[in-house]
Amino acid sequence: MSATTPEGPRRITPPLLLAKKYRHEKIVCLTANDYPLARILDEAGLDLLLAGDSLGMTRLGYQSTLPVTLSEMLIHLKAARRAVTRALLVADLPFGSYQVDTKSALESALVLVKEGGAEAVKLEGGHRYARRVEHLVAAGIPVMGHIGLLPQSVRVMGGYKVQGKTSESAEALLRDALALQRAGAFALVLEGMAQEVAREITQALEIPTIGIGAGIHCDGQILVTEDLLGLGFGRKPRFVRQYLNLTQLVSNAVRQFKEDCAAERFPSTEEAYHADNTLDPVLAVNQHADR
Ligand code: KIV
Repeated sequence: MSATTPEGPRRITPPLLLAKKYRHEKIVCLTANDYPLARILDEAGLDLLLAGDSLGMTRLGYQSTLPVTLSEMLIHLKAARRAVTRALLVADLPFGSYQVDTKSALESALVLVKEGGAEAVKLEGGHRYARRVEHLVAAGIPVMGHIGLLPQSVRVMGGYKVQGKTSESAEALLRDALALQRAGAFALVLEGMAQEVAREITQALEIPTIGIGAGIHCDGQILVTEDLLGLGFGRKPRFVRQYLNLTQLVSNAVRQFKEDCAAERFPSTEEAYHADNTLDPVLAVNQHADR
């Protein structure tokens, strides 16, 4: 956690994340796509919160991140923005919002920064996207790269496949990482790759690496918050550590509420409002009998 200044807790910035890498302090990140969770995560002292396009699955019920639109991202990002006062708030550029050309990438990033209040944007892709990253950084927008398993390229990759298992694939990932660093990315997400490759990339880069399914050697870790909390229905990937079963807890609470309503245990007298005794003698008598 960073120091507290007389003005309050110090806001996390890309240079502070870089300093953490050099102090060998782990950078702790999670996704945040709504007001209450973003507020809880920010108050818990996380370094970076990502309004991530995984919200397509966790919040919107899509099968993948591909259908997520810039407008949908914006609604969730704005909710997180209203809650986050300390962590660096990064927003995903959704599929289709930056692939066409550099101009559309800049226009989409500006929407997330100016309207949504993102402090940085993230985009998926290696050396082929380096020019785009350069362009956004030149326009004053901090960019986080994302290499390895790329959910937005799931169709090209033929599924959610772990990367970097062969030496050719490992070398390609390292080349991608170096190209994005040269282009000015302030950090890289390394997703779904052999941990030996993630270690090599982390050692080779001056900028921090944030791993998800990329092993222990990254400079930081990120998970999808709903996975960590056990709020969802899909298969749990190997790299997820589930700290809670929120789906079960919510289901238990709602079933209990249903039973209490049916058995007239809810609401109790204490949970009801009562008429003022002095105003209506008839109500006052009834209210007395209630107790
Ligand atoms: O959208 C997301 O949740 C992400 C993480 C997997 C890094 O991009």
